[in-house]
Amino acid sequence: MESVNIIGAGLAGLSAAITLAQNGIKCNLFSLQPSERAQSVLAEGGINGALNTMGEDDCTENHYNDTMKGGVYLADPNAVDSLTQNAPDIIRMLQSIGVPFNTKDNEIVLRNFGGQKKKRTAYARSSTGKIIMNAMIDECRKYEKKGLVNRCSHHELIKLLIKNKKCFGVRIKDTYTGVINDYYGTVIAACGGMNGFFPEMITGTTQNSGEAAALMFSQGVEFSNLEMLQFHPTTIGIPNKRCLVTEAARGEGGRLFIERNGEKWYFMEEKYPELKNLMPRDVVSREMFFVRRMEDCSGEVYLDMTGLSEDVWQNKLSDLREEIIHYLGKDPKVLPIPVHEGIHYFMGGINTDERHSTNIKYLYAAGECTSQYHGANRLGGNSMLGAIYGGKRAALSVIEDNGFNEHPVFDMEICDDTPARYSVIIKIRDILLSSMGIVRNEQTLANAHSELSNFAAGEKLSEREKRRVSLAIAMITSAEQRKESRGAHYREDYPETDDKYKKIIVSAFKDGEVLTEFRQIPQRRVQK
Ligand code: FUM
Repeated sequence: MESVNIIGAGLAGLSAAITLAQNGIKCNLFSLQPSERAQSVLAEGGINGALNTMGEDDCTENHYNDTMKGGVYLADPNAVDSLTQNAPDIIRMLQSIGVPFNTKDNEIVLRNFGGQKKKRTAYARSSTGKIIMNAMIDECRKYEKKGLVNRCSHHELIKLLIKNKKCFGVRIKDTYTGVINDYYGTVIAACGGMNGFFPEMITGTTQNSGEAAALMFSQGVEFSNLEMLQFHPTTIGIPNKRCLVTEAARGEGGRLFIERNGEKWYFMEEKYPELKNLMPRDVVSREMFFVRRMEDCSGEVYLDMTGLSEDVWQNKLSDLREEIIHYLGKDPKVLPIPVHEGIHYFMGGINTDERHSTNIKYLYAAGECTSQYHGANRLGGNSMLGAIYGGKRAALSVIEDNGFNEHPVFDMEICDDTPARYSVIIKIRDILLSSMGIVRNEQTLANAHSELSNFAAGEKLSEREKRRVSLAIAMITSAEQRKESRGAHYREDYPETDDKYKKIIVSAFKDGEVLTEFRQIPQRRVQK
């Protein structure tokens, strides 16, 4: 088999590379930034797996049920089945390669996280992503040394080499030298979320520009669930971005309140007595949005961590405390901090089946750029799991399918490679935000759709800008089509969940047009 080409060197890309290398298969790992700067480094609170170390009688079936329920039954049940069944092994594998998860009596300690009734989230203080990435990078280096992984940072995807719905490789630019080369071989897209569509408003890094996603969309790769945009309830504004205040703060006992008639109102605890502050993120964000607008409320929601124990501050959230003091100038041990919903994650992305195949043969995808695991709302702690398991599963599918023997040769045509202008990126962002926020309706979506179409028609846009517009139109169209409320997609004109819409919306770009269609979700094969 030719070397496999992986686009993206975060957790999903590293996991795919390690899996291929373990099976003796060579790969190129291309990314604009080195792994050390990937989005995965920013993950804080932990990774889910039903290890059942807390004496709560947990099992993988509970994890499956919580994930499906949290995603309001839009995720692929067979994909979620494999994900949740493999989660305990993934966490043990991470421990075996050196991740220092918090432990007690040699057992991994698990914490509470949103949307889950059992403690199921393994963690390393609240820098879990950084620590897992360090271990995965070290692991990958072993295979670099053996010549099995060729890790190429500052390399950018220019196009997929697609003919007749088959992907034979990638055209890649070395951004230091400007040299462009074609690399033939099966491709795994692991290019992360479309953060760069929401500069300044998102917790993730905008080095995940969304360019790779927009390019793939323009080349006929199908996307799904693009209307499903996750708002994290607890973020704080810092220069140029939103800073995440991990859900672990609430998992360890932090409480949300707003002042109502001069008194602290712990609205989540009153409204949701079972899971309280740890309802799934879509629910918490929506409640915050609504209470801030109530006439007798103060307009600012606070996270109160002043009741947390010394043990929690010292051993579980020490890094979070430092971060908040640094950015906010307030000590959360002493004072409640103001928090606001911020864009955090894309449940939608490249449409893949449970094997991580796409609609293009020899093109696979894994990690946040895909859509099959999280449905209408992702549970906290499932993203690193989805990235690691997804990368591994995609690599195993590549091995099973055994690539191709012959390939056409692609001409090196001149293409418009002008970078997208920041003013255009901001224009698209603002149009998206005007309609795709926490609360949506027909009118604002229709306005946004026509504003974006008029903007595209009235401006001279570069190829990269046009591709961004097309993907943004697909997001808005999907939100228009889903005339119900489900998970992160809340329509005030259709506030109920309607099972008629228990389907994914697949978007495709064909003959210069964005097309969308509803598709059935597969049935779960094994009923337990
Ligand atoms: O809140 C957090 O720590 C985020 C975790 C996640 O998105 O999985």
